[in-house]
Amino acid sequence: MKRYDTADCAVLKKAELAPGIFDLTVFCPEAARIARPGQFAQFQVPGKTLRRPISICEISREDGTLRFVFQIRGDGTRLLSLLNPGETVNLLAPLGNGFDLGDPSRRALFVGGGIGVPPLLEAAKPFGARAVLAAGFRSRNAVTLREDFESLGCQVRVATDDGSFGYHGLVADLMDDIEFDVVFACGPKPMLRAAAGAAARRGVPCYVSMEERMACGIGACLGCAVRLRGGNGPYYGHVCKDGPVFDARTVVWEE
Ligand SMILES: Cc1cc2nc3c(=O)[nH]c(=O)nc-3n(C[C@H](O)[C@H](O)[C@H](O)COP(=O)(O)OP(=O)(O)OC[C@H]3O[C@@H](n4cnc5c(N)ncnc54)[C@H](O)[C@@H]3O)c2cc1C
Ligand code: FES
Repeated sequence: MKRYDTADCAVLKKAELAPGIFDLTVFCPEAARIARPGQFAQFQVPGKTLRRPISICEISREDGTLRFVFQIRGDGTRLLSLLNPGETVNLLAPLGNGFDLGDPSRRALFVGGGIGVPPLLEAAKPFGARAVLAAGFRSRNAVTLREDFESLGCQVRVATDDGSFGYHGLVADLMDDIEFDVVFACGPKPMLRAAAGAAARRGVPCYVSMEERMACGIGACLGCAVRLRGGNGPYYGHVCKDGPVFDARTVVWEE
C-alpha cells in the first residue's frame, strides 16, 4: 500500500471559524482511506515552490474527505485561505506518523495550544466521554472547535492568555486536577514540555506532536531536524518522517 501520494483535490467546504482561522474540507478519497489522526498534508500553494504543512483535523473514509483547520501566518496560508468550494488544491498526503492511540478505554487528556487543537480532534474520537481537552488560546476570539470536541462527549476546559474566556492563565495550570492515563499534546514547545512533565509525574505515557519549518515533507531535505534521545546519546530525527508525533520521553526538551 502506498504511504502517500499527490492528488488534485476538490475543495468541498470552507468557513472562517475565527478571524484568520480557516476550516477547509477537501475531497481526497485515496488519502482519506489510509490517513490516521496526527498525520499531515503538504498543500501546494500557487506561485510558491515549497508546500505548506497542515495537520489533518478530521478524516471521513465514508465521504472520502479530509478536514483541515489553519491560521493565516504568512503569504502561503493567506493564499490557501482564498480557496473556495469548487476549486482544486494539490495535496501530498497523508504524511508522517500520527498518534498511537492505544487502548480507548483509558482516560485520555488532550492538551492543545491555539492552532495545535485541530490535530487532536480526530484522535479524541475513540475516547469520547473518557477524554478531556485542555485547550489554551490567546483570547476569546481565537477559541475554536470547542463544540466539535463537546459533540464527541469530551469534557472541554479552556484557558485564555488574556482571561477573556475560561481560565485566565496557562493551559498547563489546568492539568493539575484532571485524572488521566495517557496524554496527547500539540502546540507550542513550552506547552508540550509542561504536558510531558505532568505525564511523567503521574507515570503515564505522553505523545507530543512537534512542529518545525518544513521543505520536502518526506525526509529528503533534512530541513525539519528535532533533537531526540537515543541509547547512544542525543541524535537528530526528522519531524516530517519520524514524527510529527513523538513519545515525549524521546524528545530532548532542553535547548
Ligand atoms: C507538521 C505540521 C503541521 C502543521 N499543522 C498546522 C495546522 O493544522 N494548522 C495551522 O494553522 N498550521 C499548521 N502548521 C504550521 C503551518 O505549516 C505554517 O503556519 C505555514 O507553513 C506558514 O506558511 P506561510 O507561507 O503562511 O508563512 P511563512 O511566510 O512561511 O511564515 C510566516 C510565519 O509562520 C511561521 N512558520 C512558517 N512555517 C512554519 C511551520 N512549519 N511551523 C510553525 N510555524 C511556521 C514563520 O516562522 C513565520 O512566523 C503545521 C506545521 C507543521 C510542521
Ligand atoms: S521537511 Fe524535508 S526532511 Fe523534513
